Amino acid sequence: MIQKFDHIEKVKGELKLPGDKSISHRAVMFSSMAKGTSIIRNCSNSDDVHSTINCFSELGIRIEKKPELIKIYGNGFKGFIKPGQELFAGNSGTTSRLLSGILAAQNFESVITGDESLSNRPMLRVVEPLQFIGADISASELGTLPLVIKPSGNLHTVEYKMKVASAQVKSALILAALHLDDQTIIHETTQTRDHTERMLGLDTESSDSEIKIIASKKNYPQPFEMTIPSDISTASFFIVLTLLLKNSELLIKNVSLNPTRTGIIKILIEMGGLISIEKEFTENGEIRGDLLVKSSELKSIKIPDEIIPSIIDEIPILSVAGLFAEGNFKIGNAKELRIKESDRIKSLCDNYQLLGLDVIESADGFEIGGTVTNYEDILFESFGDHRIAMAFSILAMILRNGGSVNQFESVAVSNPDFIEQIKNLI
Ligand code: S3P
Repeated sequence: MIQKFDHIEKVKGELKLPGDKSISHRAVMFSSMAKGTSIIRNCSNSDDVHSTINCFSELGIRIEKKPELIKIYGNGFKGFIKPGQELFAGNSGTTSRLLSGILAAQNFESVITGDESLSNRPMLRVVEPLQFIGADISASELGTLPLVIKPSGNLHTVEYKMKVASAQVKSALILAALHLDDQTIIHETTQTRDHTERMLGLDTESSDSEIKIIASKKNYPQPFEMTIPSDISTASFFIVLTLLLKNSELLIKNVSLNPTRTGIIKILIEMGGLISIEKEFTENGEIRGDLLVKSSELKSIKIPDEIIPSIIDEIPILSVAGLFAEGNFKIGNAKELRIKESDRIKSLCDNYQLLGLDVIESADGFEIGGTVTNYEDILFESFGDHRIAMAFSILAMILRNGGSVNQFESVAVSNPDFIEQIKNLI
């Protein structure tokens, strides 16, 4: 479906967004593993989190969805039943990879599949560490889905050094390790999002060169009640829209401010963005607060290599901010972007070229310079990727003649209510 956006002059008001997608996936998974009833409030209503919910229903977990909360009746340690069919992870890398770690420790065979995009994404990154811990797991010949997981009887504790900076891979290994009495130790040299560690209360040790994460059965989840903070990745689209429009001000309520996710705020503030954090507090191990955002004049800055893993999901919308900032916008050290829901380096460069900008694509990044010369009603391509769709929707609203986004419906992967949220602010 093609969605047309008119230029908008300004935004004003207050915004309450659905729960963080990464935390919501984990809340559903951990409460399904726990023995007893858990209550999750402000769970993400994204297609991705529905994929996780559907997989755990298929594994025999009763999940009651009410308007205000989700109740999950977990069956406890190895309390899942053999699914009657393949487990369909949809578009969701987090569902497929974290689930593989849980299934690696079960006494039944299971198969994980996904949609076309997910079926092209690399799975050996999770297969290899799970095999190392003794799991019987295999991917297709191309190293992709389907993942076939069989009971191994050989799961054993390991000490493992992460080969890719990936919270999904780290979490899969942690989840398998929760089924073992003794400690599994994971060494991470680049910090990635740490929701799994926080929510399970894992012991971690940080030094200048690495983070050591320790997991064992003692951290196996117990039932819990949790209000999930709003998704900072979703919020970043509205933050950039507000920064770039004149006379605009927006208060975004109760946003996740986990330090492994706030790289986008740091970078935008350094670029000159007027963003302040109000009413910060911690609940269920996760920091949250309100964000007040005001129209700003931005300038491009050098984006440090080491911050890339913590802003990886926000690069599409950050590049829109960069487009209107003084100076060229440049991203490097981001080859992971090529294996997200689309090849995001190519998706971004192809779309920016439509505007007549100078675009230089490299193996691990891109640079944008020049000025917009084409102000026709451009049809941007989302490549079926929710974050590309939302980034170019925001850009279209800023361009003086608006613009359109193809395959706009992909926004539902993380934020089905995007259009309604925008309407409430203009
Ligand atoms: C996620 C981790 C990141 C991120 C993804 C969600 C998670 O992926 O890009 O959107 O919830 O653990 P990687 O672990 O592949 O970096």
